This record gives sequence, structure tokens and C-alpha cells, in this order.
Amino acid sequence: MKAKDHWEKVYTTKAPTEVSWFQEHAQLSLKLIRDAGVSHSASIIDVGGGTSTLVDDLLADGYEHLTVLDLSGSALATAKARLGARAAQVRWVEADILKAELPAQAYDVWHDRAVFHFLTTEEERHAYVQKVLSAVRPGGLVIVATFAEDGPTICSGLPVMRYSASELHAEFGEPFQLLGHERESHRTPAGGEQKFVYCFCRKVAS
Ligand SMILES: C[S@@+](CC[C@H](N)C(=O)[O-])C[C@H]1O[C@@H](n2cnc3c(N)ncnc32)[C@H](O)[C@@H]1O
Repeated sequence: MKAKDHWEKVYTTKAPTEVSWFQEHAQLSLKLIRDAGVSHSASIIDVGGGTSTLVDDLLADGYEHLTVLDLSGSALATAKARLGARAAQVRWVEADILKAELPAQAYDVWHDRAVFHFLTTEEERHAYVQKVLSAVRPGGLVIVATFAEDGPTICSGLPVMRYSASELHAEFGEPFQLLGHERESHRTPAGGEQKFVYCFCRKVAS
């Protein structure tokens, strides 16, 4: 099954609160963005945002330039419906991040929770990092959260990569200065535990 078909099936057969990655609020992501002192006029993209409520909370915080990109149109439709009229304040992009045509040097913050770890080939990871390099402004913040080295080996039935903070940072390399990392123990709706690692970096070169 193609990746898009997989994700459309997930989002048309499961409620947002049933998927294993569900968080009522993306607390750690919000904390990292708030603590970095990102201005409300900053352009923020949530890559593979799915039905995450991060966009709701960022809107409530007063962020004005938000983009949510996902492979699944169904996921974006669900997020838009939840937001109602506020959805019009967000740019919604249905695309594969590896192929998406993103504006150059446009984003002050790139956020990805649980998408990069699905890239199991070097080619895919290289294409992803090239997107970050071209789309994020120099000095921009890059937050990428994946399963940690002691996290699950599959997610949504698909194989995933697992990373320590230094391994994850190494995938991005020298153009990205590692500002810090956090581990998170995520409780799934079914009661399981998943270990995540969040790396936050500053893009220092193009
Ligand atoms: C595990 S979910 C995480 C969703 C969200 N980031 C969260 O934390 O709730 C992975 C998401 O990435 C999306 N996705 C997977 N591969 C993608 C790709 N190549 N380009 C864009 N989105 C992708 C899926 O549709 C799904 O919404």
C-alpha cells in the first residue's frame, strides 16, 4: 500500500483520539516554542501535523502565520473542522514533505513530531534534510521528535527508525546547531508507553 493510502485509511477509520500518537495537547512542543521566545509574527510549519492540536494551541497563543502540512487530506479536513472559523487563519498543505514545493527560507520554526522516524532510507532522510535547509530561514528553529533508542520499532504498523539525541542531530549535520534535547514518555490512548526524543536546533547555514 502506498504511504498516502495508508495514512488516509488511518484517518478515515480512526478517531483522532484513538491513534497511538494522540496527545490532548502537544505540551513539550509548545514549551519548546514558547521557551525559545518565538515571536507571534513568526512563520511556523507543523510538518506531518495530522490531527495534532498543536495548531489550535499556537493560534490561541497568538501565532499568526501557521502552516500545517500532511500527506493525508482527511487528517487536515478533521483538524480544519475542529478549528471551525479559526481554520481560515492557517495555511493547509496536503503534500508529501519529500516532494512538497515549499517557499525558500520562509519558516522561522519547523516542527515535526513522529514523521522523520518513518524515513527508513538514507535517500529519504537526505531529501527531508534538504527541504529543511531550503525552507527554514538562517537562524530558524528546527524541532524534530522521533522515537528514542528505547522507543517502539513500529508505528501505525510501519517500520520506524529510533534515535538517540546525538544520532538524530547527526542526521541533520553541521548546518544545524543542537540547542538541546528532551526525552518524553508518551502514554498512548491504549495505555502503552512510547519513548520519544525531541531535538531542537538552530539552522546556522543554508
Ligand atoms: C504518527 S503521525 C504524527 C502526527 C502529528 N505530528 C502528531 O504528533 O500528532 C505521522 C503523520 O505524518 C504524516 N506523514 C507521514 N509521512 C508523511 C510525508 N512523507 N509527508 C507528509 N506527511 C507525512 C501522516 O499522515 C501522519 O499524520
